[in-house]
Amino acid sequence: MSLTQLWRVDADPANAQNGEQYAEAAQLLQGGGTVAFPTETVYGLGADACNTTAVERIFAAKGRPSDNPLIVHIADMKQLDDLILPTGQLARMLMNRFWPGPLTIVLPVKPGAVSPKVTAGLDTVAVRMPAHPVARQLIAASGRPIAAPSANRSGRPSPTTAAHVIDDLDGRIDAVLDGGTAGVGLESTVIELVDEETVRILRPGGVTAEQLLQLAAKVEYDSSSAPDASGHNDGGGAAEPGLEAPRSPGMKYTHYAPRGDMQLVQGEAAEVAACIQSAARQARSRGERTGVLVFAEHAALYGEEEHVIVLGRLSALDEAAQGLYAALRAFDDRQVQRIWAETCPEAGIGHALMNRLSKAAGHRITRV
Ligand code: TXA
Ligand code: MG
Repeated sequence: MSLTQLWRVDADPANAQNGEQYAEAAQLLQGGGTVAFPTETVYGLGADACNTTAVERIFAAKGRPSDNPLIVHIADMKQLDDLILPTGQLARMLMNRFWPGPLTIVLPVKPGAVSPKVTAGLDTVAVRMPAHPVARQLIAASGRPIAAPSANRSGRPSPTTAAHVIDDLDGRIDAVLDGGTAGVGLESTVIELVDEETVRILRPGGVTAEQLLQLAAKVEYDSSSAPDASGHNDGGGAAEPGLEAPRSPGMKYTHYAPRGDMQLVQGEAAEVAACIQSAARQARSRGERTGVLVFAEHAALYGEEEHVIVLGRLSALDEAAQGLYAALRAFDDRQVQRIWAETCPEAGIGHALMNRLSKAAGHRITRV
């Protein structure tokens, strides 16, 4: 493959001018091609979930390990019935409440419903109905269930703009639909249902534990989804030996990593700043390029530092979540070799944000 087509589309479905682009993109998908598109979480790299050759193209383009299964994206409930075995009441309630939206539910797969490459041989399939109008229109136009991981090279931060996708995958995929910046900025929450009362979070994300508790009597975290767990995600890095097998295969891989060496520092803001600045000074004296990732409330503490990226406000963590992956990519663009980052409280979207920050830092957290 050599040429990746880039189409700009209006995120407003009322704008019918883009009909041609959707039709072309849908034709590519129907013919076994790969098309990247925006969702309300991050950009996904889509292919027909029923077509093994097409799905293999996703793995090849990303450099993704084949034991890491893909999420299947649907546009309506009719598509769901073709994919999964009959489910209980809790699953239906969760779908009614959170779909379309950033929630992925792992459910028993109907044998033969999708390519075995999608499920990596498991007897379950992860399904999500995205809310982004471009994603919905593309999936509907293709008439297929669409397997789509995040549209990054394995091990790189997930893309939140079409430019990020092009940076990672130009020439390796057929097309990109550019529908502007993705919304949440972090991937969907992946859950499985333990029983009719209990939801287990395999990967924290856009739908929070607090929200899930409105419908489930109990919400628990898989050990690999905790911010300081040594489990990793998505592929690209090495699997860690000797750890309990994670329930979500992707959680065992390193992920979200900037190219520079990153660490988190946790504690009272002024002490954190003192610790980071002392470490950064030493690194610069060794000739290393340094950067810090901080919250707006504390930015003034880092006046002397180079490559300060402000993630957003601690008081508006959803904005910080939106900017995380672009910030990690910006450190790469500036060729920063050593990065220190502040931490945030693990409530609401803060849980997912800390999970991704912690992964980006290879789980290295210094407490001061
Ligand atoms: O927001 C998102 O979820 C984005 C957009 C594009 O929808 N997609 C995404 O896909 O993040 P990906 O492939 O980067 O992450 C999928 C995660 C992986 O950790 C994978 O192991 C897990 O979902 N997963 C997929 N199928 C599974 C299954 N049957 N059982 C358990 N985990 C599964
Ligand atoms: Mg991913």
